[in-house]
Amino acid sequence: MSSTSIDSLLHESRRFPPSDEFTAGAVAKADLYARAEADRLGFWADQARDLLHWHKPFTQTLDWTQAPFAKWFADGALNVAYNCLDRHVLAGHGDRVALHWEGEPGDSRTLTYAELTTEVKRAANLLASLGIGQGDRVAIYLPVIPEAVIAMLAVARLGAVHSVVFGGFSSESLRARIDDAQARLVITADGGWRKGKVFPLKAAVDGALASDGPTSVEHVLVVRRGENEVAWTEGRDLWWHEEIAPMDLEHEAKAFEAENPLFILYTSGTTGKPKGILHTSGGYLTHVAFTHKNVFDLHPETDVYWCTADVGWITGHSYVVYGPLANGATQVLYEGTPDTPHPGRWWELIEKYKVSVFYTAPTAIRSFMKAGRQIPQKFDLSSLRLLGSVGEPINPEAWIWYRDIIGGGHTPVVDTWWQTETGGIMISALPGITTLKPGSAQVPLPGISVDVLTDDGQSVPNGSGGLLVVTEPWPGMLRGIWGDPERFIETYWEKFDTGEGAERRRMYFAGDGARKDEDGDLWLLGRVDDVMNVSGHRLSTAEIESALVSHPYVAEAAVVGASDETTGQAVVAFVIVKASQAEVATADEASAILRAHVAEQIGAIARPRQVFVVNELPKTRSGKIMRRLLRDVAEGRELGDTTTLTDTSVMQIITEKLK
Ligand code: WT7
Repeated sequence: MSSTSIDSLLHESRRFPPSDEFTAGAVAKADLYARAEADRLGFWADQARDLLHWHKPFTQTLDWTQAPFAKWFADGALNVAYNCLDRHVLAGHGDRVALHWEGEPGDSRTLTYAELTTEVKRAANLLASLGIGQGDRVAIYLPVIPEAVIAMLAVARLGAVHSVVFGGFSSESLRARIDDAQARLVITADGGWRKGKVFPLKAAVDGALASDGPTSVEHVLVVRRGENEVAWTEGRDLWWHEEIAPMDLEHEAKAFEAENPLFILYTSGTTGKPKGILHTSGGYLTHVAFTHKNVFDLHPETDVYWCTADVGWITGHSYVVYGPLANGATQVLYEGTPDTPHPGRWWELIEKYKVSVFYTAPTAIRSFMKAGRQIPQKFDLSSLRLLGSVGEPINPEAWIWYRDIIGGGHTPVVDTWWQTETGGIMISALPGITTLKPGSAQVPLPGISVDVLTDDGQSVPNGSGGLLVVTEPWPGMLRGIWGDPERFIETYWEKFDTGEGAERRRMYFAGDGARKDEDGDLWLLGRVDDVMNVSGHRLSTAEIESALVSHPYVAEAAVVGASDETTGQAVVAFVIVKASQAEVATADEASAILRAHVAEQIGAIARPRQVFVVNELPKTRSGKIMRRLLRDVAEGRELGDTTTLTDTSVMQIITEKLK
């Protein structure tokens, strides 16, 4: 973000205090802050006891002696799936709807808590019959259908570990994730619906498993959804519906220790290799249950909640599956895209299910803004009482449009900052308590301690910017990077590590820039590393560069995130084509081929908006590509300081070519 846009943001002066009516009925009470401040660990222990069922109560809250490898509630034991299912049924809520699922073509399915519990028990029996038990890894590559939730919970019920891979990722990406986690089982579907068509998933799994080298995968369990034709490997492939039919409807949930791994979720870092972020059970579930209840003001008897995220992302894990189900919420689950079969599909669903709490991403809001208010205005959205935003900064214009056009001019809008690594929401207003400020994520939640530091670790005063850190451990924190403890320490804990012995203090470095305004409220300014944020999804420049150079045309590649009106950032690539290939294809042809190649290597989300074929890349004297300059070019700005370039004529040539 340029400094002029930051300044204009900080002059945003509209304020929205909570209404008395909202405050009177709000779940979150203002004393939460004081309680957490007085005794942070005691506060989290209370939340863990109040919000969850422990088969074996814990006596210890945090063990930070092996920092930065934390243990929360370590001597306690629980079953995550039991907490999300059985206990609600036992409490008499079996008839409450857990999922109102809607398929893209318009088919739908409703599952009560009793029905979902039975489905998960049968699925757990099925997975157990395939030899899955505590600690085994299961890859899940599914569309947003009830079986995705059922599969995740069945894995959790057995104390096994899921690795959900977003259905938009390619065979290659899937294979890399299967290999890294050594998954024994893959759960997929024949296909899923997207933009009016069936996209094949089973074929991508076949492709992943056909590629070189032995695989850890023993079975592929296939849900029938798209009814598209699939190839079949006898002995390995099994139909979900056939295998589950004879399964017993009862399954006893065993308790696992609080630190039993729950899932691995891969996310992009600054190198070409995605990081397997590891989350465990008791602390994670405490964090997501607490934040889901308080940030979304959940009244489980009356609310209908809808988070539009795909289960393949952390938002889908924490605020579609674990948080809402731990709290006994009724929610909407939708398979398809927002504009299929018509551009008002989301608003139609809000009207149909009388959604009261809605959580989505700024990129979606901005694309609806562009399409015009007449689309949502055709629907009755009066059931909405609270709106949430996540994934990237929400600009004040989009915030106001969201509140006015979707929220009828009266709903609070909470902007929630967090990451795959944090497990749950860290910075957000609390509805009914906080006076809202459009564009700012505002304040850390009770029990969460953050700060903004200078590069050498000094806390910045109000009115200044720096690097965002989390200063104290929190229950939903990542426990590591799968198979790579060194990278875990280097990436997050080495930058701000001071003192020795008992005085040693390590803080978690989030990779985001932030600013404290005059009131101390936080404004997120985007990543400070080579990580892009496209439509709220994290992509690594290095990963896309390595996909580009894997193509025979490419000698060298540089990728930058250029700001984009709708998607926040867009992928823009600069490539040098090998001399031997320059005659094979024109620059336009090469560019089209390379865009497709990236989509095939990583997935459609990584497809560059533009690929520019250039003769040279701007480099510093030490040979480092100057991305800042490329970003200037990609965003059509005047070039800044080029004095450290080896050859300033390079930039001249690049800009000339792009005119
Ligand atoms: C990165 C994390 C958290 C679920 C979705 C993305 C950016 C996230 C906000 C926000 C400004 C935000 C940050 C962060 N981000 N939420 N409310 N305001 N920026 O999860 O893929 O792990 O990405 O998304 O840059 O570091 P993720």
